Amino acid sequence: MFYSIMSGRSVHSVLVGLVCLALASAICCSSVGSSNNIMCLESERHALLQFKQGLVDESNALASWKSEKDCCKWRGIACNNQTGHVITLDLSYSYDANLDSTELRGEISHSLLELPYLNYLDLSYNDFGGMIIPKFIGSVSQLKELKLADANFSGPVPPQLGNLSNLHTLDLSRNTFVSFENIEWLSHLSSLRYLNMSHLDLFEAVNWPQSLSKLTSLTELRLSWCNLPDVNLRSLSFINSSTSLQLLDLSRNSLNSSIFYWIANVSSNFVHIDLSSNQLEGGIPKGFQNLYSLELLYLGANKLSENIEDSVKTLSCAENTLDTLDLGFNQFWGSLPDFTRFSNLRELILLRNQLNGSVPESVGQLSSLEHLYLSWNSFTGVITESHFLNLSRLQALLLSSNCFSINLSSDWNPPFQLTYLHMSFHKLGPAIPKWILRQTNLRVLFLSNASLSGSLPNKFWDLFSGLDYLDLSMNQIHGKLPNLSSTSLGHVNLSSNLFSGALPTFSPMLIRLYLSNNSFSGPLSSLCAMQAPNLEYLDLSKNLLSGELPNCWMQFQELEMLNLGKNKLSGKIPSSLGNLQGIAILRLHDNNFSGELPSLENCTRLLMVDLGNNNLSGKIPPWIGQNLTNLVILGLRSNEFNGIIPFSLCSLAAIHVLDLSHNNISGGLPHCFNNITSLANDTTASDFIVELVWKGIEIEFGENLDSMRSIDISSNYLIGEIPPSIASMTELISLNLSTNKLTGKLPEDFGNMKMLESLDLSRNRISGKIPTSFASLNFLSVLDLSHNNLSGRIPSGTQLQGFNASQYMGNLGLCGPPLTQSCPGDGTVQDDGIARGTEIHNKEQVDDGLISLGFFISALLGFVTGFWIVCFSLLLKTSWRYAYFRFLDNAKDWIYVKSKAKVRRTLQR
Ligand SMILES: *[C@@H]1O[C@H](CO)[C@@H](O)[C@H](O)[C@H]1NC(C)=O
Ligand SMILES: *[C@@H]1O[C@H](CO)[C@@H](O)[C@H](O)[C@H]1NC(C)=O
Ligand SMILES: *[C@@H]1O[C@H](CO)[C@@H](O)[C@H](O)[C@H]1NC(C)=O
Ligand SMILES: *[C@@H]1O[C@H](CO)[C@@H](O)[C@H](O)[C@H]1NC(C)=O
Ligand SMILES: *[C@@H]1O[C@H](CO)[C@@H](O)[C@H](O)[C@H]1NC(C)=O
Ligand SMILES: *[C@@H]1O[C@H](CO)[C@@H](O)[C@H](O)[C@H]1NC(C)=O
Ligand SMILES: *[C@@H]1O[C@H](CO)[C@@H](O)[C@H](O)[C@H]1NC(C)=O
Ligand SMILES: *[C@@H]1O[C@H](CO)[C@@H](O)[C@H](O)[C@H]1NC(C)=O
Repeated sequence: MFYSIMSGRSVHSVLVGLVCLALASAICCSSVGSSNNIMCLESERHALLQFKQGLVDESNALASWKSEKDCCKWRGIACNNQTGHVITLDLSYSYDANLDSTELRGEISHSLLELPYLNYLDLSYNDFGGMIIPKFIGSVSQLKELKLADANFSGPVPPQLGNLSNLHTLDLSRNTFVSFENIEWLSHLSSLRYLNMSHLDLFEAVNWPQSLSKLTSLTELRLSWCNLPDVNLRSLSFINSSTSLQLLDLSRNSLNSSIFYWIANVSSNFVHIDLSSNQLEGGIPKGFQNLYSLELLYLGANKLSENIEDSVKTLSCAENTLDTLDLGFNQFWGSLPDFTRFSNLRELILLRNQLNGSVPESVGQLSSLEHLYLSWNSFTGVITESHFLNLSRLQALLLSSNCFSINLSSDWNPPFQLTYLHMSFHKLGPAIPKWILRQTNLRVLFLSNASLSGSLPNKFWDLFSGLDYLDLSMNQIHGKLPNLSSTSLGHVNLSSNLFSGALPTFSPMLIRLYLSNNSFSGPLSSLCAMQAPNLEYLDLSKNLLSGELPNCWMQFQELEMLNLGKNKLSGKIPSSLGNLQGIAILRLHDNNFSGELPSLENCTRLLMVDLGNNNLSGKIPPWIGQNLTNLVILGLRSNEFNGIIPFSLCSLAAIHVLDLSHNNISGGLPHCFNNITSLANDTTASDFIVELVWKGIEIEFGENLDSMRSIDISSNYLIGEIPPSIASMTELISLNLSTNKLTGKLPEDFGNMKMLESLDLSRNRISGKIPTSFASLNFLSVLDLSHNNLSGRIPSGTQLQGFNASQYMGNLGLCGPPLTQSCPGDGTVQDDGIARGTEIHNKEQVDDGLISLGFFISALLGFVTGFWIVCFSLLLKTSWRYAYFRFLDNAKDWIYVKSKAKVRRTLQR
């Protein structure tokens, strides 16, 4: 599920294509109807045919260009009905599943210059194969509208386009590889009213605010997702021109608050402003006080922080016009003022801020309100029926995770019928309130952690047969699940309840199923009967499931995450798991699986494999290193794997957590640790981690995961020396090689692993001195070198002397502080105050296993649950404009921009 440029493009093409098809056919029809007697001119007909020759038209979309004589009747052509001159050329591609059509490709012929009255040119959504936008288009001088969106152009945009003085519409959006060094030429387009350059990389276009300020006719500007460089405040102070801008979309860039100054100066006619997903700080600027026509204001997913009362005061000029106010995912604080003056408000999005105080009852007077999002704040007080008195149009209500109590009578008859209700993390139970059971239009219902207990009402599944999303996790609901195959459930989370019995059959529309931490029992064989071709996530962990895994995994081709950990499953791991080519997370840990691993060499997208605590045996297969090159986490602990560590494991360039502990592994450590680049180089922050985070782990965890770098091969039968290459893992944070049979000396430059916080080499046969480089392990907080054959003086360095003597014990030859044994030649025993002082501290940390792998994996587990709470609710595939969705988009953007930048770099080479 990598958000590649391709997939974005094709989805978009389909949507917009449909619209364009309608447009194109309208144009065709009108030309047929209007030009009965006016025929097209021979010279223009000739020019069009020449233009067609340059194109590759695989699906014969231009068939009418052959069959018809009159070029005014050709597909995509419109002529002036008086003069017969061609004025419109619209060959935008529109996907039509029935027509089996394909995009136009090929060249764009100069012959367009022989259409002197052409004023409309649309070649959007075709595939010009990375061609540069031809310069000569700048000479098609009558052009009023030029649309080249999403047509696979690349390279610099020719400044000649600046000659199109009649142009009022320019759409270059979604040509990923088009670049701009300079957009000064844009400022010559004095008639321009509409400009869309969304999804283009404008990072180099440093002067964009200056250039665009000169476009005095501009009413609509779309620069979403453009990697826009920050605005330089000083250069902005010289801008004093004013445009007619009404619509401004600068969402999904990394702009800081300086942009506010530009906005406040550039126009006061704004109707629609979208600045969501940027880096804005501070409050809503005073410049917004004059926006008397403002209808939509999107400021979600920034870092804005202001007393909400002040923000609302600033916007009071728009009290009669404001339709949508999105301040979600910011740091607004204070208590909500009276909103009743904003009588047209349809969407009020305040979720994920730091708002407190009680929610004013006057909210219930906003009779136009359809969307009210107050989740994830610190509101107090009581929510009562009067908060909803006149909200008869309300469709989406998000109240989860606040500090208020909810006092709505179970018999309440609300004035609304919701499609979306989110009241998680509030005490609603023990039974689901009756008024909720009357909301039978619900498509999304989240009642996680709502103190629900007992069993679900009999009619529950019938009442809500239209549900797509259902989250009842973290309650005390018990009972068995009926057959759910005739529901339309796509996303189900019932984890952490008391459900029991066999797994039911789910709807064929199932996409994500989380049933973890219940008491479901019995075999999994019913899975094979489940027709759920779109299933992406399946989490059945922490149940009582038993028996063998069925071998029918090939029917779940979309599966990305499979977690069956902590059950009583046994037998061999079935080979059909190897057919899951898209699987990224595979967790079968804490079961009784035995036998050898089947080949997973085709599962090349795996990011995490956790098979710990089973009875798996055989050798560690070499394909893990050869083929699973994206692996970030590999957990094989506590099994019966034997044989040597395959050399190929060093090819796991993205590995962050490698746990082979408690097995029967023998042989030496591989001499290729220097190849594990993710542990050698902190700049290799890999895309895979982003994807892993994206797939299953809470967002804030992302950065932390990147700093989790751990190797644990303890409790095996390793022999030989610790290879010097180990020291190249300069980013490693935890290393545990204890309880093996390692011999020889420690590598001299061991201390190069300067990020080490935890090091356990105890219970081996390591000899020689502790290298002096140990003294530079400044972050070390857990150290155990006990029970080896080390000798000589413990190098001095506060860190090393700070450990408890027991961490060095069982090495007969060691001497010097913190040991009481003095080294030969030393006078008296030194009083090691430091060591005693920190004794307890260190002991605790060892007992905690603070940096051990178990910690990593369990943290991960915790975060997978956390993900559910935060992210599941975000992944809504509705056409509604959820603030949630945009927040997540932000992360997606990052992947997008990142991969885009990478490709560009390769292109330049
Ligand atoms: C010719 O075109 C103009 C403008 O497009 C339109 O207003 C007019 O009705 C058309 N005349 C005929 C005869 O179709
Ligand atoms: C764009 O053109 C390049 C070069 O021909 C081609 O490899 C690529 O697949 C095209 N991209 C899209 C999205 O069509
Ligand atoms: C078009 O623009 C280019 C570059 O901006 C300029 O050099 C050229 O003189 C212009 N041509 C005409 C016909 O205006
Ligand atoms: C123009 O940009 C917006 C983003 O602001 C985008 O959603 C839209 O699809 C673009 N328009 C076209 C015609 O591509
Ligand atoms: C991997 O894929 C190849 C090609 O699709 C196939 O021939 C091979 O059998 C697959 N291997 C496994 C172990 O599934
Ligand atoms: C696994 O990697 C090996 C060695 O790189 C390669 O020969 C083999 O084709 C790969 N298998 C698959 C299914 O990609
Ligand atoms: C380690 O890297 C070197 C050079 O980068 C390469 O030649 C070698 O094959 C790699 N070894 C393994 C086991 O990946
Ligand atoms: C670390 O990674 C960066 C970027 O990938 C690379 O330029 C640099 O050479 C690497 N350094 C080492 C020591 O491998």
